[in-house]
Amino acid sequence: MNLSMKDKILQHFLQSKGEPISGQQLADELGISRTAIWKHLQTLQEEGYKFITIKKKGYQLVAAPDRVDAAKISSFLKTKRFGYSIHYFEEIDSTQSYAQKLARQGAEDGTVIIAEEQTGGKGRMQRIWHSAKGKGIWMTVIIRPNILPHQAPQLTLVAAVSVVMAMKSLYQNFTPEIKWPNDILINGKKCAGILTEMLAEMDRVDGLLIGIGINTNHELDDFPEDIQSIATSIAIEEKKKVDRAELVAEILKNLEHFTDEYVENGFTSIKTLWEEHSGTIGKRIKASTIRETIEGQAIGITDEGVLEILLDDGQVKKVYSADIEIQN
Ligand code: BTN
Repeated sequence: MNLSMKDKILQHFLQSKGEPISGQQLADELGISRTAIWKHLQTLQEEGYKFITIKKKGYQLVAAPDRVDAAKISSFLKTKRFGYSIHYFEEIDSTQSYAQKLARQGAEDGTVIIAEEQTGGKGRMQRIWHSAKGKGIWMTVIIRPNILPHQAPQLTLVAAVSVVMAMKSLYQNFTPEIKWPNDILINGKKCAGILTEMLAEMDRVDGLLIGIGINTNHELDDFPEDIQSIATSIAIEEKKKVDRAELVAEILKNLEHFTDEYVENGFTSIKTLWEEHSGTIGKRIKASTIRETIEGQAIGITDEGVLEILLDDGQVKKVYSADIEIQN
């Protein structure tokens, strides 16, 4: 874990769940002086953390700013490799672009790039991804599975399954559904999207950049007016603010687990999970591709992650890339 000393101190406090920790104990465990500990606590206070001193017991963390930084995420982390290298930004153009650079420089499997705000967030099909400050999870995970280039679309589905199952395990008041290929909807409105990019040679995948955008703590007014009728957030649906770092850690756990499962045992179990959590399969849909608009019943996905639509004349059409509208 590439945590700075300040973040290591913070991690101790976050893991102590509100219990006081003595300065001497911290100094001993981290191998630095008590004065150095005190200086780091001052810096943390300047960043918005609040500590009080409790006689004979030490320092107690009583307030923390709402941030998704490395120390906060790692206090929830239950993975073997993912999330051990976290690059955190207050503001960035796009975590996806930064991940491209890091991946080319050899960043390790499971490296996370995460920001409070993106000024140039990228969506699928060259769209803009609205990434308001402190309201969502805007992150890219660099993964390096040993797969062939044609298998990459299947890993987008692995990512969608990981996100939807993380939401299901943490929140009880709504049921998220995957809309092909990898949107996550709650009550028919978009809550999260996934953008996968690949670094590859003809016969070898060097890395995949799994870009995950989740609207977590938005009120309706936080969305631009033109998307207010089609977008939602977890807080709106769950009816309470969520801890973004906890959700990030849960997603990383699933992403690591399902990527390993995919590499070891193939696509079958992932495909089943994807279909189980999908709100598209079995529904009548309208698919707009760049060439045409097709209407019919979504009957399944192929091993390539391609959507199969049963047309009214009995033909089955395969759709590789499209915007989908689910009909009533
Ligand atoms: C979509 O169009 O549904 C995909 C949206 C993906 C957005 C995420 S936010 C983190 C990462 N960085 C980006 O610029 N885009 C992805």
